[in-house]
Amino acid sequence: MAGRYPPGWLEELRRRNDIVQTVSGYVALKKNGKKYWGLCPFHGEKTASFSVDGEQQLYYCFGCKAGGTVIHFLMDIEHLSFHEAVEQLAERARMPLPDMIRDEDYERRRTQRERLLAANREAARFFHETLYSPAGEESLNYLRGRGLTDGVIRKFGLGAAPAGWDTLTGHLREKGYTEEELNLAGLTVVKEAEPATQEHPGRPRRAFDMFRNRAIFPIIDQYGNVLAFGGRILGKGEPKYLNTSDTPVFNKRKGVFAANLLKKERHLDRVILTEGYMDVVSLVQFGVRGVAATLGTSLTNEQARLLKRFAPQVYLAYDGDSAGQRAILRGLDIFREEGIPVRVLDFPDGLDPDEFIRRDGAEGFAGLPVLRPEAYRIRRLKAEADFSGEQGKADFARKAVALLTGLDPVEREGYLKQLTVETGFPRNVLDAQMAEELKKAGKAVPPKAAAPREDPSEALGVTGATFQAGRPGTGGRPAQDETEWKILRAQEMLLSLVATGLLPADLTQEEDFEGSELNIIYQDLKAGMKPADLIDRETDGEMRSVLTRLLLSPQAGDTDEMIAMAQDCVKKIRRGRMEQQKQEIGKRMANCKDEAEEVKLLQEYQRLDEKLRKMA
Ligand code: UTP
Ligand code: MN
Repeated sequence: MAGRYPPGWLEELRRRNDIVQTVSGYVALKKNGKKYWGLCPFHGEKTASFSVDGEQQLYYCFGCKAGGTVIHFLMDIEHLSFHEAVEQLAERARMPLPDMIRDEDYERRRTQRERLLAANREAARFFHETLYSPAGEESLNYLRGRGLTDGVIRKFGLGAAPAGWDTLTGHLREKGYTEEELNLAGLTVVKEAEPATQEHPGRPRRAFDMFRNRAIFPIIDQYGNVLAFGGRILGKGEPKYLNTSDTPVFNKRKGVFAANLLKKERHLDRVILTEGYMDVVSLVQFGVRGVAATLGTSLTNEQARLLKRFAPQVYLAYDGDSAGQRAILRGLDIFREEGIPVRVLDFPDGLDPDEFIRRDGAEGFAGLPVLRPEAYRIRRLKAEADFSGEQGKADFARKAVALLTGLDPVEREGYLKQLTVETGFPRNVLDAQMAEELKKAGKAVPPKAAAPREDPSEALGVTGATFQAGRPGTGGRPAQDETEWKILRAQEMLLSLVATGLLPADLTQEEDFEGSELNIIYQDLKAGMKPADLIDRETDGEMRSVLTRLLLSPQAGDTDEMIAMAQDCVKKIRRGRMEQQKQEIGKRMANCKDEAEEVKLLQEYQRLDEKLRKMA
């Protein structure tokens, strides 16, 4: 598919596939205020934080931050690519597909991406064929020796990298790929020539295969693209697994192993997340569905959000050894941050999932204890606690109770009962401690997922949170940050009002967004682009979510109310700027050594002060 869709055509496509109607086909929606609300289909939840904005033709989940236009909704719910979703919607609306717009820069990036993906696909085919040829005998024996059948080998497209120096490189060069492309894809390593010295005879430039004499695990995304490879050494040695480093088509922090198989699974009630390629392959061989693995790094927020697309909750199936146990605690934090329900599978005897299922079979696996995060954390606390004295017991009780604040009273009951037994503290003491913790928790900042819905100060976390380095913290920030933060919030609110297209043109000026990344969006909106246009143009998922939240219709009722709000925002921005100037001058005065200069600064300070007072 060459080029991009013409924006006018996409607008028509969105108009004919009304988002409220389309989403209603999947989610029961209820109107509340200006938006429709329902239970988010992308993460498990009991209260509706999923909103559909008919005015801006956008959806957004305040819980899991999924958001976008009707095209993205279809992509996410049906696991489609952008193009596939557009094609489906066009078919529903009986619209013929348009001629694409050419965009050279985009085109070049796209072509490179496609060439690298094609090289990877060819490499995967080559590795898989090699596995069943004499050059792959050792790898095949290795994989079979680990209990894998031909069926599961085919399912994962496992392969063998031959032992030679440049077998794959030669094969792909013959197919027309350049050395540069193969190098970019991480398939070929180029060693520059070394000139001869007195001690050393020198060496010519060489290009050789990245993967040699290893069993190959292709990493395939949910759209079927071969992104990268993991290669296991056949036996002992270092590194045990060699992985493609990040390339223009692969980011190991964003993908998971076996996403292609996850996508094909229907009605998964959970994804099982392991740490190893072999764990996934082995579990699947034993008939377990919906398994994935991280890619040799610890879990990231992006991966957590990706998994949420496939099932409402995630089971962590990490190694029973101590590194695995540490990784679980980090994983639990990430899933909590993302508001994704998570459980821990408890593997005995330090085994990893592969070792366990080969020892105890699918039945043993199905019978594994499934721990709630609180139960797992309490168990870890207990393992580290010192029960020999009263102090240790009290410490443990306090920390364990603190872990229970997120639960409802019924869920808490079981844990508290167990704690009385384990610590010997009477129930009323634990209850009193619990009450104290709950009071504390009530005062604390709510976790991300539980943020109040549509509170502008939260909705407007955009500039600070994503475009810029970081949102100023909520507690004890310096006055200057405070002013900056107020300006940003007002700018974001103002932008969502501009996005409605209902404000008089002269109410806002470019200066109101000066020095902010929002300026570009402001200019696009002023140039007549619709919020949905801007969002459909965005290819980065994270940015799409941020932009969607930013451009949702504001709460205000009628146009007059919106104008009043916008005027208020403009005032806040302009005032904020003046306050910043005042602070700046104050600082310069404090450092000033020249008397005449100081008088000038003071006058300026007073002038600003006066102006600010008049504005109030
Ligand atoms: P493990 O060392 O736990 O290996 O690494 P494993 O999964 O049990 O592998 P087998 O059973 O010995 O074959 C877990 C994951 O960490 C990454 C790989 O993604 C691996 O699947 N890893 C490990 C590497 O990337 N490089 C290494 O050298 C080791
Ligand atoms: Mn293993």
